[in-house]
Amino acid sequence: MKIDPLEEAKKVDEYVIKLRRYFHRYPESSTKEFKTTQKIREELDLLSIPYEEVSDNATIGLIKGSCPGPVVSLRADIDALEIRENTGLSFKSETEGLMHACGHDLHMASLLGAARILKEHEGELKGTVRLIFQPAEEIGRGAAVVLANNRLADTDVFFGLHNTPDLDVGDISLSPGCVSAGANSLKINLKGKSGHAAHPDKTIDAIAAGVAIVENLQHFVSRELDPTVPAVISVCKFNAGTRENIIAEQAEISGTVRVADDDTRDRVREAVYRIVNHTAAAHRVEVNVHCEYETPIVYNDEALYPIALEAAKNLTGAKIVPEPLSMGTEDFGDYSAVAPSFYARVGVGKGSPLHSNTYNPNEASLKYLTALYISFTTTYQGLI
Ligand code: NI
Repeated sequence: MKIDPLEEAKKVDEYVIKLRRYFHRYPESSTKEFKTTQKIREELDLLSIPYEEVSDNATIGLIKGSCPGPVVSLRADIDALEIRENTGLSFKSETEGLMHACGHDLHMASLLGAARILKEHEGELKGTVRLIFQPAEEIGRGAAVVLANNRLADTDVFFGLHNTPDLDVGDISLSPGCVSAGANSLKINLKGKSGHAAHPDKTIDAIAAGVAIVENLQHFVSRELDPTVPAVISVCKFNAGTRENIIAEQAEISGTVRVADDDTRDRVREAVYRIVNHTAAAHRVEVNVHCEYETPIVYNDEALYPIALEAAKNLTGAKIVPEPLSMGTEDFGDYSAVAPSFYARVGVGKGSPLHSNTYNPNEASLKYLTALYISFTTTYQGLI
């Protein structure tokens, strides 16, 4: 039996575009994807696909093939962003201040399109397909909700994708290894001694200590780490002081650490504690520092790479390029911790960046997203 993923995707293209426009019109913020979820369930009902109601905003659909075989879990995220849309589209957001500016509307519509095709072919499928409609990706908390209670413990492989305006329509980027960084939180509280600005000798200046800490953390990245290994320490908040003639007693500093492998995560964590504690001691301030694991690395399984590559090649005419490492985070990494996983990016045409108020992916790309969900499943099951 042969399923041509792109030809199949074209058959449901109109359906997918219609759904995408519906989702785009009614965006919902992370953890509040209730109406979106209702719509997804209505569609699954129409397709006669049973599903588990994980919560009011998380759903796992089930397609059981007639022959035994592996469990393939396909994931789409469903949340939108707090952005006021400025695209002028006829189907632009009708919810003030919210917009599908990360293209998750494309993900859920194309997963439903793929579900329709896979359901039609369930008599030929070798194994089970799970359809994950996951909330709260933008705040990194949705995958954990879906995975709670060992819900997907029998999954053999997870597959996810993301639309990207860095590639032309239908181009696909995939690579083995880390494709999206993991994060550690960074929080530093400093306590010195306040006093008159004219008499610094009678005080312990929390701002001066904080500035030295921020600088020394950057020296760690540039002077101590292997320059070929990616790592970012970004201090993004620095609150201190009460007025212009009082030396600050307290400083609150926070930010984020990004790494692409777990060894570097351990090294950066060790260095943050060492540098912050020693710099604070040198400046005589009391310090409280926290730099702990926050989000996982998205790691494309090496053994899966040939299958993912083949799946992409099965989309006739698609151009395949290496996947650049993103230092942004993605909670898809939570799935990597349960079973081997793969995460690819699909081009939607070059234009405004993700998370911008003018983000406007070309809908001609939707058939490629749909096709890749189908192709990953059928290729993994050996149906091509
Ligand atoms: Ni996204």
